Amino acid sequence: MNETALTVHQTARPHGFPTAEHFAFVESALPRPPAGSALVHNLYWSVDPYHREMMDDVPGGFALGAPLEGRTIGRVIASRTPHLAEGEIVFHRQGWRTHSVVTPEEIRRLPRFDGVPLTAYLSILGGTGLTAYVGLTRIARLREGEDLFVSAAAGGVGTATGRFARLLGAGRLVGSAGSAAKAGHLVREVGYDAVFDYHDGPAADLLGKVAPDGIDVFVDNVGGEHLTAAVGALREFGRIVRIGTISQYNTPDAPPPRFNHADIVEKSLRMEGFLVSNHRDVQEELYEFAVPHLQSGRLALDETVVDGFEGIVEAFLGMLRGENTGKIIVRDRAEALAGRSGQRF
Ligand SMILES: NC(=O)c1ccc[n+]([C@@H]2O[C@H](COP(=O)([O-])OP(=O)(O)OC[C@H]3O[C@@H](n4cnc5c(N)ncnc54)[C@H](OP(=O)(O)O)[C@@H]3O)[C@@H](O)[C@H]2O)c1
Repeated sequence: MNETALTVHQTARPHGFPTAEHFAFVESALPRPPAGSALVHNLYWSVDPYHREMMDDVPGGFALGAPLEGRTIGRVIASRTPHLAEGEIVFHRQGWRTHSVVTPEEIRRLPRFDGVPLTAYLSILGGTGLTAYVGLTRIARLREGEDLFVSAAAGGVGTATGRFARLLGAGRLVGSAGSAAKAGHLVREVGYDAVFDYHDGPAADLLGKVAPDGIDVFVDNVGGEHLTAAVGALREFGRIVRIGTISQYNTPDAPPPRFNHADIVEKSLRMEGFLVSNHRDVQEELYEFAVPHLQSGRLALDETVVDGFEGIVEAFLGMLRGENTGKIIVRDRAEALAGRSGQRF
């Protein structure tokens, strides 16, 4: 067992794009769990765009000089509660650190599905997949044959949205991503019909080329110019599913997007945002829907796995820069050496 623990702190508030200078790795003795709690050695960490929002001085944001939060999966290595057994795998929210002290109330036990690796509980079966599934089934209320446009299509939510939309019988599926390589990958591997690189020109022109007959649903992870373009391309009774606004997280001074408000009335459009945290009740339904497809191979995992906890800050910054394809996940180096990217229970 390691005798020291590493914890990431945020040390300063960024204005614009954050850098490694805004973080510090803090070493300490291995925490001793007080009675009623257990010590978890973390194995897989999620870093997410919402962490960038929490870096700002906002209510509920990260405190400076304190451990950060994030979704994490680890193994209990010492327990002082009968409710947590040594060796158990648990999910909790005390991420960005190699070791966490948790109480039984702070953890969730993950269900066991044959052939499903642990990483899936941070990607397609976790908050990322749940966001995509809720967006399509509860907010868009997607019907078979409807045509979709997905922004940030190569990311965690974007790839899950594409794969779920295909399984739900979507019609034409188009997306936007940050490079030609990502666009090609989405068409070859994920099931998109056409994807544009949003650096290649105005989003409205590029969307017009890949969806000349318009769209029924826009799943928006980006905001900004993408939203303006989609309002113009939506057909009558179209829906805009507002999931995220990543184009604005690092550009706080950019003006908010402008779009034709009359389109909302004249085309009877509906724009609705949501937070996945308000839809936890859909988790079991997601398992019922997705797990058989994962097991049959009809649904694949889209993940970028970074090895070694010391890479967590760079993984987060790289995700903000678009270096990931699919969900970004950080993996403990020992797990990597044991070849457990696809660790089965
Ligand atoms: N509502 C909710 O409850 C909820 C839950 C989860 C996530 N979200 C939101 O969903 C979105 C996607 O999250 P995710 O976890 O799946 O992250 P992700 O898409 O895997 O990673 C972020 C991606 O955003 C793209 N990006 C970065 N800057 C951009 C810009 N200026 N314009 C366009 N694209 C940009 C990058 O890809 P490119 O190479 O394509 O630029 C990057 O890979 C985020 O907005 C996030 O906040 C919301």
